[in-house]
Amino acid sequence: MESIHLKPKNDESPSSFSKRLGELYADSVSKDHKKKNGQFFTPLEIAHFMAAYFNSNRKELKILDPGTGVGILSCALVEKIIANNKLVRKIELVVYEIDKDVIPLTIQSLEYLLKFAAKNEVVLTYEIRQHDFILHNAHCFRDTSGDLFYKETEVFDIIISNPPYFKLAKTDLRAVAASTVYSGHANIYSIFMALSAILLKNDGQLIFITPRSYASGGYFKVFRSFFFKKIQLKNVHLFVSRKDTFSRDKVLQETVIINGFKQDYNLGNQTEISSSSGIVDIENARKRTYSSDRVLDLNTDEKIMYLPTSDYEEHVLSVFRTWRNKFINYGVKVSTGPVVAFRSKEYLRSEYQNSNVYLAPLYWLHNIKPMEIEWPIVKPKKEQYINIEPLAKPLLVPNKNYVLLRRFSSKDDKNRLVAAPYLQYYKKAELIGLENKVNYIYRPGGELSNEETVGIAALLSSTIYDTYFRIFNGNVNVSATELKEMTLPDLEVIKNIGSIILENNNFTIDFINELVNNQIELELTE
Ligand SMILES: C[S@@+](CC[C@H](N)C(=O)[O-])C[C@H]1O[C@@H](n2cnc3c(N)ncnc32)[C@H](O)[C@@H]1O
Repeated sequence: MESIHLKPKNDESPSSFSKRLGELYADSVSKDHKKKNGQFFTPLEIAHFMAAYFNSNRKELKILDPGTGVGILSCALVEKIIANNKLVRKIELVVYEIDKDVIPLTIQSLEYLLKFAAKNEVVLTYEIRQHDFILHNAHCFRDTSGDLFYKETEVFDIIISNPPYFKLAKTDLRAVAASTVYSGHANIYSIFMALSAILLKNDGQLIFITPRSYASGGYFKVFRSFFFKKIQLKNVHLFVSRKDTFSRDKVLQETVIINGFKQDYNLGNQTEISSSSGIVDIENARKRTYSSDRVLDLNTDEKIMYLPTSDYEEHVLSVFRTWRNKFINYGVKVSTGPVVAFRSKEYLRSEYQNSNVYLAPLYWLHNIKPMEIEWPIVKPKKEQYINIEPLAKPLLVPNKNYVLLRRFSSKDDKNRLVAAPYLQYYKKAELIGLENKVNYIYRPGGELSNEETVGIAALLSSTIYDTYFRIFNGNVNVSATELKEMTLPDLEVIKNIGSIILENNNFTIDFINELVNNQIELELTE
């Protein structure tokens, strides 16, 4: 690679200089290179926004920036410290970066930062560690105090990061190192977060920008337990638009910034949630303060992060908080369809045969429409039948009443939750097949009544449930774990909703929204 040399402009700020270096570098490397390293440089406005969370009057500060790139976050933070903390005299900066090609630019950026600090009478030293941040600190995940070469954990006052973001194979050494905070596949960004939580001083501050996916769902449950035992949230900023310029890889994923402190630091039990659509309106972010347990209740098993961003969402959340019951309290279960299509190919059939072969209907994600099941739908490679043979039988479920839900929503779906009642009288089969991209709700050892089935499907299809769901889930996945955690109104209310829909034979979403809102308001005022 050709070397890039850039000169700072007159009186240019270090963060602006770093931004220009970053742009040159990003233009010079391939998409593959960026993907392999999870490399996406923070836009300048966001770097400033994150740095503005800085809050300390210390004379000496030790800062960590893991996955530094060209150091834009370090630059923005040091500028902020110098501007706001008149007492500061000494800053020790440690950065990690694994991409050796970017290092010459990191050096240019940090050398300029060093001069800027000196001009402001602050002694800045920096150390660039060309190591994998996780492997280099892997010992922190183990209790090594008894080891012969025991190394005391090096701790920091402030850790600021925009970590890489990609999934790691279970066998990846970094995932193995962090196995205590993971069950299953890990995403590298959350290992950066977990490690940083360990490397933070007892009154230290941690500022991270990441995808929102860790906020809910089963994959990150162990991580949340670990991380939030150590870190309390002072601020959360949510980028509501998934399509804004700051979407690092165009996946349907929201981005969050968190500003947190160690649990033993006295924060006063308040968390501020701010939101903007994207970067353009970040300076005018909408802000609200909540008691911290409202955002994240540490006494719950799941430790889901709730992020309401409007009056309506706040109202919806408070309604759901008044309910105590979940599916389990009504003897109802949520599971994922047992038929994994690619593993069951030999049992799948696209045409109905009426001979000595017995076929059961197979329901896929695309058969589920809002409040309606459309079956069969002829589509290549989406066989609508499954053969009832001994090896396939354990994959089938009895033909009973179910609520079927899509496990993923698409861009075109208005709601994240797409649910429909499946009433047993639809088909005369004894067994039915449910594909793996479908979740189903049922009563084990019994059966949901028609009213319950329609009532549950209607609730889940209503705007109020969609709003509730969006308060804690920022992606397109709808996991069974999240559905199990949702609170529900009284079972009588659910049945009533179901029976009114059945009586009126009106399954439209407009009718459902009016009905659900009325019933819920009624319940609340009783
Ligand atoms: C999303 S970029 C962010 C860069 C910079 N912090 C910023 O905000 O512009 C993540 C950076 O981490 C680096 N990186 C990826 N894996 C790493 C690892 N295991 N250890 C240290 N750095 C890593 C990448 O090369 C990349 O420069």
